[in-house]
Amino acid sequence: MEALLNKLSEQQELTEEEIVWFLGHLTPELRQQLYSRASKVRKQHYGVSVYSRGLIEFSSFCRRDCLYCGLRRSNSSAERYRLTEDEIIECAAEGYELGYRSFVLQSGEDIHYSEQVMTTIVRKLKLRFPDAAVTLSVGERSEAFYRALYNAGADRYLLRHETASCVLYDSLHPGMSYDHRMDCLRILREIGYQVGAGFMVGLPGQTQRHLAEDLLFLKEFQPEMIGIGPFIPHSSTPLKHAAGGTVEDTLVMIAMARLMVPDALMPATTAMGTLDPSGREKALQAGANVVMPILSPLQIRSKYALYEQKICMGDEPEHCRSCLEMRIAVTGYRMEFSRGDHCRFNVQL
Ligand code: 5AD
Repeated sequence: MEALLNKLSEQQELTEEEIVWFLGHLTPELRQQLYSRASKVRKQHYGVSVYSRGLIEFSSFCRRDCLYCGLRRSNSSAERYRLTEDEIIECAAEGYELGYRSFVLQSGEDIHYSEQVMTTIVRKLKLRFPDAAVTLSVGERSEAFYRALYNAGADRYLLRHETASCVLYDSLHPGMSYDHRMDCLRILREIGYQVGAGFMVGLPGQTQRHLAEDLLFLKEFQPEMIGIGPFIPHSSTPLKHAAGGTVEDTLVMIAMARLMVPDALMPATTAMGTLDPSGREKALQAGANVVMPILSPLQIRSKYALYEQKICMGDEPEHCRSCLEMRIAVTGYRMEFSRGDHCRFNVQL
């Protein structure tokens, strides 16, 4: 066991069998050792910095029907909204005032925001806030779309792979294809984006072998950003009765991912904070090094419900900022307001 932990920390190849065995034999003491090694590795690469990204959830319309997600198109009880170009820019302006220099534009897969609409938004953002990074998280689009947005100034793209098991992927994503998602990730990388992948923990039918596949995929793809969060069942989806993921299992995955992709930028997700009031702090202590405070307007926030009981629903951005800054300081880290690029990307402004 100790030998496997050493192998992991030394960045040696671990087989799927070894990972499955490791996950099956974890004890509370070993978990603690795993977290502290992950935390050490993260400090070697990024010190005590915790990077902040202001999250703007600009549309809750979605053409997809993912079984786990509250925004799925079949959820007729979901209230839908779209922010206008000006509203999006206003959110970013408020974030900029608060000091954020990295914005994430996230939405359901909403083709109302065409290539032209999105490039206009990104161009305007980059013109007005030239020292801020823009990250897109708008799902599977065409290569032409990805290229146009990159040329318009988008720096990064988040597209979680959701699960690296092809069979599990297909069972959760009607009408979608695992291969296509992988193609999207490769195209994004080729274009030059800093690319984010990631997965959910505790999906129905997900085994430790599936999780081992996720980790091995990350190791092979070496994403610049990795988002790992617990699956939280939503009552208006077909998976409403599922058990969902736990904080502990997610922490193990975050720590393993940190050891296998040491220089990744990894958020302490809102989903972790939703399951456990100190979930995000625990994630930071297990290898995560990014936080994503929400900048979306208060009146629409509750409508962006991937899952329910999401935290920070009624908090003004300013409150979020001071709350996070305090939470981070308590863990011995320091909240950073720079662009927070991946260490392989030396961006000259
Ligand atoms: N619970 C937790 N995470 C979810 N996501 C979508 N639905 C849920 C849910 N019910 C995650 C997906 C998606 C990201 C934006 O949110 O991984 O990529």
